[in-house]
Amino acid sequence: MSEIFHIGLGNNDDALRKKADADFVSFWDEQAKNLSWFSPWEKTLDWRPPFAKWFVGGTINASYNTLDIHQAAKSDKSAILWEGENGESRNLTYGQMFTQVQKFANVLKSLGVKKGDRVTIYLPMVPELPIAMLACARIGAAHTVIFSGFSATSIKDRVADSNSKVIITADGGYRRGKIVPLKDVIDEAISELDFVEHVIVLERTKNKISMSSKDQLWTELIDSASSSCPAEELPSDHPLYILYTSGTTGKPKGVLHGTGGYLTHLYSTFKWAFDIKDSDVFFCTADIGWVTGHSYVVYAPFLHGATQVMYEGAPDFPEPSRMWEILQKYNVTIFYTTPTALRMFMKFGDDIPNSFDLSQLRLLGTVGEPINPEVWKWYFKTIGKEKCPIIDTWWQTETGGMLISSLPGLETIPLKPGSGTLPIPGVNITVVDENGGDVPANTKGYLVIKNPWPGMLLTLWGDDEKYKTVYWSKYENCYYPGDYALKDDDDYIWLLGRADDVLKVAGHRIGTAELESCMVSHPSIAESAACGIPDEVKGEVIIAFVVLKQGISNDTSILEKELSNKIRTDIGAIATPKQIYFVSKLPKTRSGKIMRRLLKAIGNNEKIGDVSTLEDGAAVTEVQQVFDELQKSIKENSR
Ligand code: WTA
Repeated sequence: MSEIFHIGLGNNDDALRKKADADFVSFWDEQAKNLSWFSPWEKTLDWRPPFAKWFVGGTINASYNTLDIHQAAKSDKSAILWEGENGESRNLTYGQMFTQVQKFANVLKSLGVKKGDRVTIYLPMVPELPIAMLACARIGAAHTVIFSGFSATSIKDRVADSNSKVIITADGGYRRGKIVPLKDVIDEAISELDFVEHVIVLERTKNKISMSSKDQLWTELIDSASSSCPAEELPSDHPLYILYTSGTTGKPKGVLHGTGGYLTHLYSTFKWAFDIKDSDVFFCTADIGWVTGHSYVVYAPFLHGATQVMYEGAPDFPEPSRMWEILQKYNVTIFYTTPTALRMFMKFGDDIPNSFDLSQLRLLGTVGEPINPEVWKWYFKTIGKEKCPIIDTWWQTETGGMLISSLPGLETIPLKPGSGTLPIPGVNITVVDENGGDVPANTKGYLVIKNPWPGMLLTLWGDDEKYKTVYWSKYENCYYPGDYALKDDDDYIWLLGRADDVLKVAGHRIGTAELESCMVSHPSIAESAACGIPDEVKGEVIIAFVVLKQGISNDTSILEKELSNKIRTDIGAIATPKQIYFVSKLPKTRSGKIMRRLLKAIGNNEKIGDVSTLEDGAAVTEVQQVFDELQKSIKENSR
């Protein structure tokens, strides 16, 4: 029996769930009316599995809904309370954001960006990042934001795939007091991409950069731009952005989101889950380079005209108390972060948060990975002082917005630490077995979504076939997210981690296939396998196993460094393995499948007898033999 916490915010609107259960299409139709449309839709949902079009015939603009609509009542209200890592701060009102976005939209137009084009954005966490995104949205160009931790090779692949002719970057960004040379990374990334016409450079750190004929400074362009740029009236399914994310294949996939459905989903979930009020100060710690930042830093809070804190740097820099200092300084009322961050804060000890005034907090949230019940309880007690409900929000880059979460803005339900609780209204989620049949209560199975929802991806950029196979081929007409889950006796959903070869390291999604293809492109490596093992803070860390090519006898410690560097330059520092093992061969079943559980057992320092599941279907004695060989070969090869 799990512990139950009865805590809510006093809201209880049963009617909404009833309506949603009765007819999810007309339910979402009503929710969409909360947004401002230029022209109404003729059809709420056009569902040609697996492609969904929401609010067909309606025209809308994301920038209009996040800025223009607030100008009459909120132009002096703070939109962003920005805190630089070095202690600088900026306060941008909705009025100032409106001007900056229109000016920057005109800059983009002057550089030839048109409706339907793609623009790549590689910026640190500064207000110019949402400004650039909303400027793209204003003129109907799709932004593709790349997390500032990704390497030149990753950027090159994404710029080429999206065919972005304009790139927006900064001279540098601050991270742990050091300057990350973003412009240099872009120079390297696009050195062979002749189709890139313009690079706009924001000066953040004033470090030395080289400027070529393609490069222009943000300030110079924006100073001379007109501050009036009406928002384009766009079809509801007009592409708003592409966000690349890792999957089970070698290359990241471009998840394509539309406008009207996506915004409807965000508007609704922000209200139901966060109970947002005009007086709130919202703070989501996610980097905008990830989907959480797109949805719950940029679009959802601005749709509601909310005030939010945006922080540039590392959460524990220069001191472990940094986060709580920020919460106190800005009187944050709603705080949304990750289990990895919470595990780190918890390790620093209670004295640190206890020495700050966090009494303004009224609601806490987590996202991105399963949260351990102990950490949930720590969050509830030490940060929330037992008066703030916690929302554990499950969703994905592909889903656009949260799909499983308790919703204190809508209803009060008992909370169980570690469970995401219930699906949001209007979404049909269940847990099934391998054949698609419902599993009994308390039994592990696969999470599936049985009807389309407004925030769902339109497709994978340029690859409808892959979209069909990745998400819609395991079960007929059901979306398959790739997560294990179970439902308990109260129908609460418990997320049990990934069912595929996707890792979650500190909440960041990394595909093992991507890592493996990077490692085998090293001239000395014949074969490789990567997997995740549990980590106290990051949830999971990567370990890798490699087989050298015949005749290669290089020093493995040098090779290990080379491989780590290669991963850093090809993918990014977040994908660096904790340890690389050199082996004579990879443990495989007779059908050639890598026995990843053996790799995990090595990484966890377990005996094979401790590993109970036989998901690879091999006989126990055979597994033991392969395991012994593997251990022996690690010893032999790591001299
Ligand atoms: C995992 C992040 C447990 C899950 C918004 C999912 C979670 C993947 C939770 C998507 C949660 C996300 N509890 N697991 N509350 N939220 N996940 O695309 O495995 O970066 O499939 O989106 O994160 O990761 P993504």
